[in-house]
Amino acid sequence: MTQVRYRVTLSAMDAFEESGPVLSYYNGAFMRPREVVISPHDRGFQLADGVYEVIRVYQGVPFAFDAHLARFERSAKAIRLSPVSRDEIGAAVSELLNRAGFASSDCLVYIQLTRGVFPRTHAFPPAAIPPTLYMDVTRTERGPHPEPQLNAAVTVQDERWENCHIKSIALLPNVLARQKAAEAGVDEAVLVRPDGTVTEGASSNIAAVFRGTVTTHPEGRRILSGITRSVALSLCDELGIPLEERPMQRWELDEADEILVFGTSTEVGAITLLDRRQVGTGEAGPIATRLQTAFAERVGEARS
Ligand code: PDD
Repeated sequence: MTQVRYRVTLSAMDAFEESGPVLSYYNGAFMRPREVVISPHDRGFQLADGVYEVIRVYQGVPFAFDAHLARFERSAKAIRLSPVSRDEIGAAVSELLNRAGFASSDCLVYIQLTRGVFPRTHAFPPAAIPPTLYMDVTRTERGPHPEPQLNAAVTVQDERWENCHIKSIALLPNVLARQKAAEAGVDEAVLVRPDGTVTEGASSNIAAVFRGTVTTHPEGRRILSGITRSVALSLCDELGIPLEERPMQRWELDEADEILVFGTSTEVGAITLLDRRQVGTGEAGPIATRLQTAFAERVGEARS
């Protein structure tokens, strides 16, 4: 019995190392992901008391790094956690990339900060305790995508709290929404509040195109201020594509010429099937294509 359990665990770890992170950073030390031991009393583990970031690296250069670090700082402050200095994170990320042999490759960096290790109590620990800073790096395919990726999606009720601008590790509503999407055989869940307002995706921002105008939920407490979203909106500006930031209703999506999806891994993608109904022509539309082309150029400029 013990033997069987051991074999299963080992092969799961091997699979993890093949497709998962290749190197980790944990409170100042670099190690193989399977060597990281984090206490069960970490408040991230027990209470989801922490924040995170996911950053795409193109040929060794973290894309929109300052914007990600600024959001990480805002998220930490919003949960009253002292942010780690941007210099410290910047230095750790460069070392992580170098040590992993990713100084000129494509990968994804994950960063998480929690309120540290303390016997379980809901309120903050009474005395200051050191936070837990964890990072890892995962190989990705060479990007950016030459064309918008095509996605299918379903709508799912947005059951989250009123602080979605915080990139909190408490992702249960997002997890359950994305699982509904997975069970429907599609890529993403488009979140819709009980009043019919479309907010964002389970792990992406959403926009729709109506007669040439890109329309998306405004920043605020109901969405994450996506870095890709903000790059895409500035590209709309540069390309002279009309833009409207306003909450949309679910029924409006049935009349959209295109539905766009923005995210660190997806970049600018197209949703071509929503709730089993074809969107527009069923292929990536002209705006998705122009924005993804411009996005790829922006990545190229950031690297040079
Ligand atoms: N998700 N909205 C939500 C709820 C998200 O979780 C994400 C990103 C986005 C897009 O933000 P950005 O463009 O900054 O990646 C929007 C990350 C990638 C994740 O959880 O893995």
